[in-house]
Amino acid sequence: MQPSASLPELLARRKPGHALEQAFYTSPEIFQTDLDQIWYKEWLFTASRAELPKKGAYVTHKVGAYTVVIVRGQDDVIRAFHNTCRHRGSVICQHKKGTAAKLVCPYHQWTYELDGRLLWARDMGPEFDASKHGLKPVNCREVSGLIYICLAENAPDFDTFAETVTPYLEVHDLSNAKVAFQSTIIENGNWKLVWENNRECYHCAGNHPDLCRTYPEDPSITGVSADGTFPEKVENHFNRLEAMGAPSRFKMADNGEYRVARMPLLDGAESYTMNGKIAVKKRLGRVPVLDAGTLLLFNYPTTWNHFLSDHSITFRVTPISPTETEVTTTWLVNKDAVEGQDYDLKNLTTVWEHTNDEDRRVVEDNQQGINSPAYEPGPYSPTHEDGVIQFVNWYCDTMTSRVGPVKLAAE
Ligand code: FES
Ligand SMILES: [Fe+2]
Repeated sequence: MQPSASLPELLARRKPGHALEQAFYTSPEIFQTDLDQIWYKEWLFTASRAELPKKGAYVTHKVGAYTVVIVRGQDDVIRAFHNTCRHRGSVICQHKKGTAAKLVCPYHQWTYELDGRLLWARDMGPEFDASKHGLKPVNCREVSGLIYICLAENAPDFDTFAETVTPYLEVHDLSNAKVAFQSTIIENGNWKLVWENNRECYHCAGNHPDLCRTYPEDPSITGVSADGTFPEKVENHFNRLEAMGAPSRFKMADNGEYRVARMPLLDGAESYTMNGKIAVKKRLGRVPVLDAGTLLLFNYPTTWNHFLSDHSITFRVTPISPTETEVTTTWLVNKDAVEGQDYDLKNLTTVWEHTNDEDRRVVEDNQQGINSPAYEPGPYSPTHEDGVIQFVNWYCDTMTSRVGPVKLAAE
């Protein structure tokens, strides 16, 4: 569907505090601009170190038109490369994950070292210079066991984010984690609807019976506290955990791209289980108490996370089409925890398996309703949806700064 106004016009005329116009959620042109201006420029959370547990382990990831392989080298360094052969361009690693001694292109068997150097190419003649045909690198950084990539040649600053979140993540010891379970679902909704839904808990009481056993609907927990203040209970939680050596206090990027805060769960709750007790006896990390709440970290446009006193959960968002978004959820536990002994997989995963499916349904219903010509952007709740307002402002400000604002003729 072609939007009737240009993107700069749509951005300029948007009503603050309201949902976006239909085209933002349906237009292939705007979807492509989202890819070009956000997904191909920002740092993107892609995997955790636990997904690359040994030398030669790799994961592949597709972002828009790009396909990337992230691989752990013989030197244990994690690197990212464009998964496109330097011969005639075939995709090299075809699986979502695996382990390889070398990266071998399936087409004509050009063979690359795990650090990207071309090692072998058959009968290319005396003039051929293998050193000029190594895999093209992709910017790759790790912060406390979380691996990010950036597809832009000149990546934006990563250090400020890394310095901000490292003290919070440190106690969760993600470098000593293993993957207990991973799920990937497709939500038939625009990636921004997936985020809008994530950034509020206005929908929780009506849709998430299992999550609501432990997670508070209180908007100060999910939202961004627009005025910078928190209820006494949350302040007390920050103070209590910080006194025990677990950084907790709310911090947000100047441009609103990421936020980190250790928030309380409901009274007595320890983790996201049906009975509220920890799911894993051999805990991941050094969080001082079981009822430490959840360290919430979101970083637009790819990830939100919950780091708990016993395990951690990462979420990765990937746009597939204007109305399809992939969400990959990974449950990380202590690498020495034994399934069936230290944890029961169903007990560990039930709450978020259900919650993800419930979120998929509400996002899909949201998209369906927006597809109607009768759709008109409605107002966000200032009480419950300040997180959504903050996300949409971040999106619109980012896009406006990149596609340029326009002045609209008086309507
Ligand atoms: S395209 Fe990869 S070896 Fe030919
Ligand atoms: Fe939800």
